[in-house]
Amino acid sequence: MTPTFRRWQPEEAEEAASFLAADEWQFHALRIPTLEAARERVASFSDDEVFWIEVEDAVVGLLRVEDIHADDCDPTIDIRLLQAWRGRGLGEQVIRWTAEHVFTTTSQRRLYGQTRVDNHAMRTVFRRCGFVKEAHYRQDWPRPDGTLSDSVGYTLLRQDWEGGTTTPVVWDDEPAGPQSSEAIGHMISPQGAKR
Ligand SMILES: CC(C)(COP(=O)(O)OP(=O)(O)OC[C@H]1O[C@@H](n2cnc3c(N)ncnc32)[C@H](O)[C@@H]1OP(=O)(O)O)[C@@H](O)C(=O)NCCC(=O)NCCS
Repeated sequence: MTPTFRRWQPEEAEEAASFLAADEWQFHALRIPTLEAARERVASFSDDEVFWIEVEDAVVGLLRVEDIHADDCDPTIDIRLLQAWRGRGLGEQVIRWTAEHVFTTTSQRRLYGQTRVDNHAMRTVFRRCGFVKEAHYRQDWPRPDGTLSDSVGYTLLRQDWEGGTTTPVVWDDEPAGPQSSEAIGHMISPQGAKR
């Protein structure tokens, strides 16, 4: 099963809105968007490249690469496969195609994706495609019930994509010394018990 990609056109705004409103997106704030909410989302596609994902000429998903041509932020992936097509290995093929598309048609150095912390399928796909977790955002992703979830950010570097390498993040970079331990003490005791 090999996906193909057909560039979405602005004249297809209504088709894209209907696509988004017709399925359930369990890891998004709008789990089942109304047609009106979906239209609003599609109206924000203007600076992006968007593709229909197809299998044998049938639409199975929508791929949006936000800010692909921006020079002040990273291109960002938004992938939506219809429920019937999830769990069949398509996600990995789509993300690999996206990386090739971005790194061969632009001079961007990084490709970014963010997802809810419990979206394990998405996280697995990112890791398999060479992305490295760079960020853990606490309480920043609204769940459909109004509560907040953590989310995670993964990035693929052009140099890793070209070289088949994995550049790790240097996490252990806090300066040692009294200033930092005082700051940590403040964080674990915000009521001032240590002060
Ligand atoms: C997220 C998404 C792109 C993943 O693509 P996919 O084709 O469904 O993923 P795959 O079938 O390749 O699954 C990837 C891996 O995750 C694993 N996985 C899937 N669901 C999982 C779960 N709930 N817990 C743990 N692992 C899970 C799969 O088992 C698979 O690993 P395996 O090949 O070792 O079995 C797709 O499911 C999708 O479009 N979901 C809805 C929209 C969405 O969540 N988009 C991301 C928003 S940022």
